[in-house]
Amino acid sequence: MGKIPCLLLIFIATLSRSVAQSHGTKNQGEALDNLYKAKFSRDSRIDTGPFEVLDTNQFEAMTMLLDESEVHPRQKGSKEKDRIKMLPGQPRVNFSQYGGYVTVNESAGSALYYYFVEADQHSKESALPLLLWLNGGPGCSSLAYGAMEELGPFRVHSNGKTLYRNKYSWNKVANVLFLESPAGVGFSYSNATSDFTYTSGDKETAAQNYMFLVNWLERFPEYKDRDFYIAGESYAGHYVPQLAYNILHYNKKAKRSVVNLKGIMIGNSVINDHTDMQGMYDFFGTHAITSNENYRKIQHYCNFSSAGSIYKECQEAMDKADTDVSVIDIYNIYGPSCFNSNLTSKPKKTSPMNFDPCSDSYVLAYLNRPDVQEAMHANVTKLAYDWQPCGGFNWVDSASTVLPLLKEFMANGLRVWVFSGDTDGRVPVTSSQYSINEMNLPIKTQWHPWFSNQEVGGYVQVYKGDLTFATVRGAGHMVPSIQPVRALSLISHFLAGTPLP
Ligand SMILES: *[C@@H]1O[C@H](CO)[C@@H](O)[C@H](O)[C@H]1NC(C)=O
Ligand SMILES: *[C@@H]1O[C@H](CO)[C@@H](O)[C@H](O)[C@H]1NC(C)=O
Ligand SMILES: *[C@@H]1O[C@H](CO)[C@@H](O)[C@H](O)[C@H]1NC(C)=O
Ligand SMILES: *[C@@H]1O[C@H](CO)[C@@H](O)[C@H](O)[C@H]1NC(C)=O
Ligand SMILES: *[C@@H]1O[C@H](CO)[C@@H](O)[C@H](O)[C@H]1NC(C)=O
Ligand SMILES: *[C@@H]1O[C@H](CO)[C@@H](O)[C@H](O)[C@H]1NC(C)=O
Repeated sequence: MGKIPCLLLIFIATLSRSVAQSHGTKNQGEALDNLYKAKFSRDSRIDTGPFEVLDTNQFEAMTMLLDESEVHPRQKGSKEKDRIKMLPGQPRVNFSQYGGYVTVNESAGSALYYYFVEADQHSKESALPLLLWLNGGPGCSSLAYGAMEELGPFRVHSNGKTLYRNKYSWNKVANVLFLESPAGVGFSYSNATSDFTYTSGDKETAAQNYMFLVNWLERFPEYKDRDFYIAGESYAGHYVPQLAYNILHYNKKAKRSVVNLKGIMIGNSVINDHTDMQGMYDFFGTHAITSNENYRKIQHYCNFSSAGSIYKECQEAMDKADTDVSVIDIYNIYGPSCFNSNLTSKPKKTSPMNFDPCSDSYVLAYLNRPDVQEAMHANVTKLAYDWQPCGGFNWVDSASTVLPLLKEFMANGLRVWVFSGDTDGRVPVTSSQYSINEMNLPIKTQWHPWFSNQEVGGYVQVYKGDLTFATVRGAGHMVPSIQPVRALSLISHFLAGTPLP
């Protein structure tokens, strides 16, 4: 049982890094796969040190995170300037939409692009909460996935030109903000980077996201006191807690609620490397998508707690498993694949319960249209490259765990929900279960089914200190795309703070 020869490892690592750095990664999953491979390779230069939970004194000493001079109070008129009159090809709606840039680093000339949809509500009696949605990657766009394929008000037709209404849009229950972050994702950019290859990491992303948020709230001051929640999926399992952590500590430092954060919700999320990896291969092995023999090899040779020193036999077995699953959609293991991503001149028939697996190409075409960019106030500086759903990043830091942050939120009375679409194979339900188990939380409400339209929507278990773990039955990595009705029920109950039915 020899260790894998160093040269080979270096080759693999170089390969995965150069993939990550090439002109845009194709999708959310590939970006994550690249990061996993790079992190677990022996010569990895990614800093996996924890995103430290500092006490308030330590936090105050760390001033580089926020330069107060870069917060611009009362940006009069800029909200109206950002109002989107109408997106090309959209059906009529009654809610307002906004899109534009917020500068997050003046010296570097970095600005993040946001798309904001107000709630679609008939009565204005109760002000609905503000919800920020983040997608993962790292380096993938919340506009591409979150807004246009998952929980936003519109989806793109197969002609790449017109939009149709998503009737299970989350703006039925919240005002929803989508953010392309960090700089280098989608329309978000930095003038300090001359080409498409950006360098970023967890810490910079969290700092930019926080800077975005405080400035955005100056632009939309009516939302300053609104209940605020952050949700996201996949690698946003890092982004969401790290941003929430910044909010929590700046609130403490300011001795007031600068951002009125009430809770976070993360789904199919990367939160603890070794259990995430273990859970992924256990899921492969128990869902008949790799052989029993190969799975036994993984069980015998792989130790994911010792990242960076993977045995040759383990590497071979992982490679075999990767080959086995490469022919299916690992993000939705029983779902259809996309065989023809060409646009059609007439829109294909759509149905909310049958997500079109070729949607990525419709969104790509739509968001690269000059009339769409103009309507959305995007790409105002005429970037030198096309809009892509995922950017090519050299990712420099990625904490090996965010579990201490979740504990910190629970101790501070924030609502924490972790959900999981149970047909995702990339960050599967087993990974989330193992990761939560690592926290050793006492159980408050035992595992039980929850219901949606009389059917079982999934299972749920509530832990003391207020952490809810909920599965969404039959949903893949992108839960609102595959199970929109169950996803809307999930977010409604999360925001209301009520148990799942
Ligand atoms: C917009 O609001 C009006 C008045 O409340 C209502 O009659 C109409 O059906 C709404 N339209 C849509 C698309 O929701
Ligand atoms: C802003 O960008 C400059 C130049 O790239 C960098 O040195 C600095 O750390 C950045 N500031 C923040 C707060 O990220
Ligand atoms: C980036 O550069 C362009 C062109 O000089 C300028 O218009 C834009 O305001 C700059 N962006 C930021 C965030 O400084
Ligand atoms: C796995 O690696 C960790 C860290 O190096 C070590 O503590 C543990 O004993 C190993 N487990 C097995 C089963 O070898
Ligand atoms: C997609 O379009 C290209 C270019 O027009 C064409 O060559 C190709 O055959 C089309 N693919 C399919 C599966 O129809
Ligand atoms: C920005 O606009 C330029 C010029 O129209 C276009 O070539 C480029 O593809 C666009 N880039 C993005 C990221 O939208």
